[in-house]
Amino acid sequence: MSQSPDPVIELRDVVKSFGPQRVLDGLSLAVPRGKCLAIMGPSGTGKSVILRHVIGLIRADSGLVAVEGRDVAKLSRKDLSALRKRMGFLFQEGALINWLSVGENVALPLRENTDLGDAEIRERVQAKLELVHIPDAWEKMPSQISGGMKKRVGLARALITDPEIVLYDEPNAGLDPEISQSINDLLRELHERLRVTALLVEHRVRCIRTVADEVVFIEKGRVQIQLPPHEFFHSDNPRLVQFLGTDPD
Ligand SMILES: Nc1ncnc2c1ncn2[C@@H]1O[C@H](COP(=O)(O)OP(=O)(O)O)[C@@H](O)[C@H]1O
Ligand SMILES: [Mg+2]
Repeated sequence: MSQSPDPVIELRDVVKSFGPQRVLDGLSLAVPRGKCLAIMGPSGTGKSVILRHVIGLIRADSGLVAVEGRDVAKLSRKDLSALRKRMGFLFQEGALINWLSVGENVALPLRENTDLGDAEIRERVQAKLELVHIPDAWEKMPSQISGGMKKRVGLARALITDPEIVLYDEPNAGLDPEISQSINDLLRELHERLRVTALLVEHRVRCIRTVADEVVFIEKGRVQIQLPPHEFFHSDNPRLVQFLGTDPD
């Protein structure tokens, strides 16, 4: 997968420190078009920091972060904002706004970033609620819905602009295994149907097996191992065996 001539997302030799702490130390990875690359690694190894580089929220101290072949750090504000419109993010907590209905939460990126009229917005939001299998959820408030349903709403919002690139930060966090598997099946279905390019930060093996094309293991600021899921989870690399042995699922 890393040999792709045309990666949609590429990090090359990225170094990033916060104060004295070097979090990324020459990290390189690449995601080819239409593929999903999963990132695993111990807590605090910089997985979320990687995603924030790709969105352009943080800038590397050195090295390259490129999306669609363009150096994110060199984009003007206007170009960065245009690029962000082509990306969807699913944050760990779902990050729904409590005082807005489900429908309005999903509509938010369209209201903020487009000139679409109300009728068009309603139609698009309803289509996305149907895509994530919650067609009747529009009027509900976040406080009235389950954790699994919140993730679906977060996913509908991440996809509302029809992004070509999606970043997921622990989409399974806080979900019990059964609901988590329904989210995994949904992610897989979306990837098959929409052919988006994705980075997936996740520690649950089942999620990665269901959704990802390849997995990287990150530690000490770098990619230590990169393999397809079926090889990754059967690797006899001692560090990986130790890491996976201490993880849930
Ligand atoms: N804005 C920031 N300022 C200072 N330290 C940060 C910042 N963002 C992340 N870090 C530190 O970088 C390390 C990696 O964080 P993170 O990417 O969130 O880890 P994880 O792999 O668990 O997602 C952590 O030690 C965290 O405290
Ligand atoms: Mg994180």
